[in-house]
Amino acid sequence: MAASHDHSHGHSNGNGHANGHSDGHADSNGHGKPDSFEVRILRQDGPGQASYWERHRVAYEPDMNVISVLQRIASKAKTVDNEQVAPVAWECNCLEEVCGACTMVINGRVRQSCSALVDRLLTDNPGEIELQPMTKFPVVRDLVVDRSRIFRALQRVQAWVPVEGYYDMGAGPRQSQEQQEQSYPLSECMSCGCCLEACPQYLKVEIAREEGETDEQFAERKKAAYDKNFVGAHAISQAMLFNSHPTGRMNAGERTDALMGEGGLQICGNAQNCVAVCPKHIPLTTSIARAGRATTVRMIQRWFDK
Ligand code: SF4
Ligand code: SF4
Ligand code: FES
Repeated sequence: MAASHDHSHGHSNGNGHANGHSDGHADSNGHGKPDSFEVRILRQDGPGQASYWERHRVAYEPDMNVISVLQRIASKAKTVDNEQVAPVAWECNCLEEVCGACTMVINGRVRQSCSALVDRLLTDNPGEIELQPMTKFPVVRDLVVDRSRIFRALQRVQAWVPVEGYYDMGAGPRQSQEQQEQSYPLSECMSCGCCLEACPQYLKVEIAREEGETDEQFAERKKAAYDKNFVGAHAISQAMLFNSHPTGRMNAGERTDALMGEGGLQICGNAQNCVAVCPKHIPLTTSIARAGRATTVRMIQRWFDK
C-alpha cells in the first residue's frame, strides 16, 4: 500500500493537519469570510507510487466550488512554501452533478467536487479544505482515479436493453405510471462511485501493469480481477432497473444469474452505508432487497428446471 507523508514543511501542527489560521491569512474581510484559505491535497505522481500531502493557499472569492479552487491551484502551481510544483490533476466534465467524474473525498466525505461549495465547507471547517482521491479505486494521478471497475460491473449485469438493429421496430410496450415512478430514481445513477467508496464490502482492487503488456492485455487482466470481486450497489440497482423494464425484462434471468455469481449479491452485508451517501438519493437498499427476492425466485426456478 502506498505510504503518505507531508511534502510542505513548516506549517504542520504535528499531526499532519495544517494550521489554517497561520500567518494571519484567515482574517475576516468584513463579510465573515477569510481573505484566503488553505487546501491540503493528497497527491500521487502515478499508479502504485507513494502518496504525499501538499498544501496550497487560495485567495477567497465568493461562490467558489472545489473545481474553481483546483483551477486556481493549477494556474499557480505553487505550494504554501512557494515551491513550484506540477499542477494538481483532477477530472471533471458536466459541472452540474450529472457525470460523476469529479468525485473525490472532501473533508473526509465522498462527494462531487463541482457541487461542493467553498462557503459551506469553510463554515463547517474554517480555514482549510482537505482533498483526497477516492480510496477504493486505483489512483491514476493525484485526484484522478481509475473508475473502470464501476463500468465493468455494469457490463457484468448487462445493465442495458439489447437492441437487434436500428430499424424501426414500432412502439415499445407501455410502462405504467407506477412503474415509471419506481424506475426513474434508479435511472439517475451517474456511476460516480460514492456508494462503493462507502461500502465496507467493496474492497480496492489494484492491478499493476506488467512490463511489455499491451493496453488490451492489461485491460483484460483488470477485467478478470474485477469480475472476481463485489459488483457493488450501483450495479445491483441497475440490474433491477433493467429487469423491471418491459423490454429489458426479457434478459432478467441473465442479470439475476450474474448477481448470483462470484462477487455478486451475497457479498453485500447490508450495512446500508451506500444508500446514506448516494448523491442522487437512489433507494439502493430497496434495490438490494428486490435483488435478494429475484435471486431466491431464480434459485427455485433453476431447481424445478433440473
Ligand atoms: S448495503 Fe451492501 S452494498 Fe450497501 S454499503 Fe452495505 S454492504 Fe455495501
Ligand atoms: S448509486 Fe448513487 S452513489 Fe452509487 S454510483 Fe450511482 S449515483 Fe453514485
Ligand atoms: S463534473 Fe460532472 S458530476 Fe461534477
